[in-house]
Amino acid sequence: MALLALAGCGPTSRRPPIEIFSDMRRQPKFRAQTLPLRPVPGAVAQGQLKEDEAFATGISGGMYIGKNPLAISRETLLRGQERFNIYCAPCHDQTGSGHGIVGLRSAWLPGNVHDPRVKNMTDGELFSVITNGRRTMPAYRFQVPAGDRWAIVTYVRALQRTTSATIDDVPSELKGDLR
Ligand code: HEC
Repeated sequence: MALLALAGCGPTSRRPPIEIFSDMRRQPKFRAQTLPLRPVPGAVAQGQLKEDEAFATGISGGMYIGKNPLAISRETLLRGQERFNIYCAPCHDQTGSGHGIVGLRSAWLPGNVHDPRVKNMTDGELFSVITNGRRTMPAYRFQVPAGDRWAIVTYVRALQRTTSATIDDVPSELKGDLR
């Protein structure tokens, strides 16, 4: 009887069988979607290292930074224009006034980047609006990498100048073309 029981015959049981040699049946391991896996404190995913807080958040020492860390160049402006027209224009339209297709087809009211309040924002605050969203505007930090968000800030500044430029902003060699 004892031998038969040991050999596993008999009624089914919920208790685990006696294991003389467990071999490698039991070993510590993680199964997908069982334990909530928390990364080790201080672990950083690839490409997520935010060494430069100001560049990554637009904030330094608890304050919005005043100036865009990207130098203004034709390349940055063109990149910003391209990204703005992809990510912002659907709501804000290509001039930034807020009459994009989304607002025309819904009850959403996108802001106007030419609003004096927005013009008076520091570059860091503008960056933060894109990064985290604001009130009804969604965040764009997942779709748009930080470098492109700064390029968009550069371009928004250029857009804002288009509504307050004076004749002095026109290079002298082009003034003759104005009518
Ligand atoms: C899905 C639509 C949508 C997109 C896309 C969008 N915005 Fe907005 N944005 C809004 C709405 C809506 C508001 C008004 C928020 C409010 O005041 O409730 C707004 C407001 C703003 C403001 C003014 C914030 C303030 O304090 O008044 C700025 C600046 C701005 N957006 C910039 C951008 C830029 C730059 C992009 C592209 C990266 C962008 N937005 C993309 C919908 C959008």
